[in-house]
Amino acid sequence: MNATMSLEKVNHFPVMLDQILSIITPQHGGTFIDCTFGSGGYSKEILKHPKSSVIAFDRDKNVKPFASEIEKIYGEKFQFFNQPFSNISSKVKKTKNLKAIIFDLGFSLMQIKDLERGFSFDSRGSLDMRMGFNKYSANDVINSLGQHEIGKILKYLGEEKDHKKIAFQVVKAREKKLLNTEDLVYIIKKIKKNPQKFKKNVATKSFQAIRIFVNKEINELVKGLIEATKILNPGNILAVVTFHSLEDKIVKFFFKNYSEIKKNPSRYLPKIEQKDKRLFDFTNKKPILPSDEEIEKNPASRSAKLRYAIRNEKDFFYPNDLIKKFENYLNLENMEFNL
Ligand SMILES: C[S@@+](CC[C@H](N)C(=O)[O-])C[C@H]1O[C@@H](n2cnc3c(N)ncnc32)[C@H](O)[C@@H]1O
Repeated sequence: MNATMSLEKVNHFPVMLDQILSIITPQHGGTFIDCTFGSGGYSKEILKHPKSSVIAFDRDKNVKPFASEIEKIYGEKFQFFNQPFSNISSKVKKTKNLKAIIFDLGFSLMQIKDLERGFSFDSRGSLDMRMGFNKYSANDVINSLGQHEIGKILKYLGEEKDHKKIAFQVVKAREKKLLNTEDLVYIIKKIKKNPQKFKKNVATKSFQAIRIFVNKEINELVKGLIEATKILNPGNILAVVTFHSLEDKIVKFFFKNYSEIKKNPSRYLPKIEQKDKRLFDFTNKKPILPSDEEIEKNPASRSAKLRYAIRNEKDFFYPNDLIKKFENYLNLENMEFNL
């Protein structure tokens, strides 16, 4: 993103803004943590209310000019950390004033529109996809990682059914040259026999998988949810907008598993005293979806799902079931490889 781009010129629609505002009710005042600041769509709306303040996070240094513009207007009511949201609890101490923590996951329009950053299949040149605070780029993954590992990334993080074929062709093609974005798209298009019949671009799933891996998005999400829950007060809200099924599965499991009392496994077995493993009092069973009107205005919102939960009175405990449930994905992202 061009750092001189002003806030008004970025045509970003904050996804499900009205629904978010009606859940977190900033008109009543308090502190709100916007974990995925982007171009500040949520933060700006919250700050319009005189008694509300915002603490914002974003791992992308390119959003700093937007944060500075908001700081100029709202001064001490707004604080920005250019940090991954997995660090929330080390930057923000528990405060009685906190009302809600919000995550709007994934990448922003600014990131995808900046063709030098390689998030889009329309990008030219090197594959990058780093949001910030990364160990390696998409270029490193495609040009250095083994065939088996590339296949696993495409399969588990992108649900790409042609993962084996794509991984094989990638490794074969890179014997001749270093692969860039166009090469990867070309390989995928050749494998998908009839690319026109696909609703989305045929490279969508592979690009998503590589982006998730490069940015360790599953580790970030799991840690982010845990760190956020640590600092929430009873009655505070945790709201999350997801954009793909793996993200939604994680949020759904976390909220459901830690807001329900476990039933006895069978009514014929002696009653087992179940430990109360609840961190939340309430969660919406069905996700909130964008309206048809919003999807028409902003097609990128079509896959968004909003879930929220309300923190209960119980002391925080570490949600081991969440880690266990998604361990394979966490380990996949944490694999070591030599560049
Ligand atoms: C969908 S956009 C958010 C848009 C924002 N709600 C708005 O209205 O402008 C997602 C943003 O989250 C940031 N992000 C993604 N993962 C992050 C993480 N683990 N920690 C901090 N920021 C992250 C991205 O850099 C991107 O700017």
